[in-house]
Amino acid sequence: MKKSIAVIFGDGIGPEVTQQSMNVLNAVAKTFGHEFEYTYNLMGAVAIDQTGNPLPDETIEACLGSDAVLFGAIGHPKYDNDPAAKVRPEQGLLKLRKALGLYANIRPVTTYPSLQHLSPLKAKNLAGVNFVIFRELTGGIYFGKKELNEEKNQASDDCVYTRVEIERISRLAFTYAQQRSKKLTLVDKANVLETSRLWRRVVQDIAHDYSDVSVDYMFVDNAAMQLIINPKQFDVILTENMFGDIISDEASVIAGSLGLLPSASVGNGTALFEPIHGSYPQAAGKDIANPLGSILSAAMLLDHFGLNSEAALVREAVDWTLKHNFVTKDIDPVNFYSTGTIGELICEYVGNKVPGEIHQTNVELRKSTII
Ligand code: IPM
Ligand code: MG
Repeated sequence: MKKSIAVIFGDGIGPEVTQQSMNVLNAVAKTFGHEFEYTYNLMGAVAIDQTGNPLPDETIEACLGSDAVLFGAIGHPKYDNDPAAKVRPEQGLLKLRKALGLYANIRPVTTYPSLQHLSPLKAKNLAGVNFVIFRELTGGIYFGKKELNEEKNQASDDCVYTRVEIERISRLAFTYAQQRSKKLTLVDKANVLETSRLWRRVVQDIAHDYSDVSVDYMFVDNAAMQLIINPKQFDVILTENMFGDIISDEASVIAGSLGLLPSASVGNGTALFEPIHGSYPQAAGKDIANPLGSILSAAMLLDHFGLNSEAALVREAVDWTLKHNFVTKDIDPVNFYSTGTIGELICEYVGNKVPGEIHQTNVELRKSTII
C-alpha cells in the first residue's frame, strides 16, 4: 500500500515524539511492504516565528492533499500568559480542524497492568477499564462568536450547536458502540444549557436506529466524578467540544500518564492523528518525552488505512516495552530510557527482532539511571 502523510511536528516535544512515530511507520512499511511518503508542514508557534501565521495556507493544502496527517503538539509559554496576544499557536490547530472538517475527536482510554501504580486510582478500580471518548471538535463554545467590549471589562463566548453537527458525530459514536460493549453515555449539562438539551433531543431521536445500544445521560459534573470513582462503567462517551477537552485530560490520569494517550480526529476527508498531550516545553529537545502517545496515534492511523494487523503489531510492541519496564522518565523517574531508545525498541520489535533476539544487555546500555 502506498500512502502520503502530511507531518506537522509543531511545538515543544512535538518534533521528537513525531520522529519516533515516523520511524515506527517506516519499520511497519519495511516489514509489510508498504510505502509511506511524508511532507513536512508548519503549524503553531514555530509557524508564527517563521511566517507570522500559526497555520500557513500551504499547510492546509498539503493536509487536504494527503491521505492522513500526523501531528505532534502545539503551544508555547510565551503566548500563554499574554492575554493581549493577537496571534496564538492554538489558533492554527483550531483552524486546521475546521479546514479539514474534523468533527470527531476519538480518544481511547485503556489501562496497563504494569503501570497501575502510577495511577492515583485504586488498582481494583483500574482493571478492565476500556472506554473511548467521542468529543465533538468543530462547534460549541470554541467556535462561537467571541467578544470583548471596548473598556475591556466584559467578554463573551457564544456556545452554538446545530442538529446536523450533533447528529453526525452521534451516529459515528453509536456505530462505534455497536462494535464494542454497546453502551453509549451522553455527557452534557442539560439541566442548565440549551445546547445540551438539543444534544439530548438529537441523541434520543437517533437512538431508535441503534436499538442494540443502551444509552444513558450524565451531567458533566457527575461524569467528572464517575470517571474517577468507577471508570469501568463507561464504554463510549459522547460529548461536546469543551466538556470533551476537559474530561479527556481527566481520563488520561486513569492510564497513569498523559504521555500514553493517542487520538484520532476524523471527518469527511483527511483524518489527523495526534497524542493528546501538549507541547511540554520544559522537556523539549531533551530526549526524555514519552513517545508512546504519538506512536499509538500512528497505530490509529494504520487502522484508519485498514492496516489492522500492522496497527495490532505496533500496539503489541508498545505493550512489550511497558511490560519490560522500558519506559520514559514520566513513568519511572529513576530508571528510564530516552525517547529515541523507546522508539528504537518498538521499531526493532516491529521488525521482528524481539522478543528473543534482542539482548537485554544491549537494552541496558541505553538506560539512563539517576543515582
Ligand atoms: C486538545 C488541546 C486543544 C484543545 C488546544 C491546544 C487548542 O487541548 O487537543 O485537547 O483545546 O482542543
Ligand atoms: Mg485538551
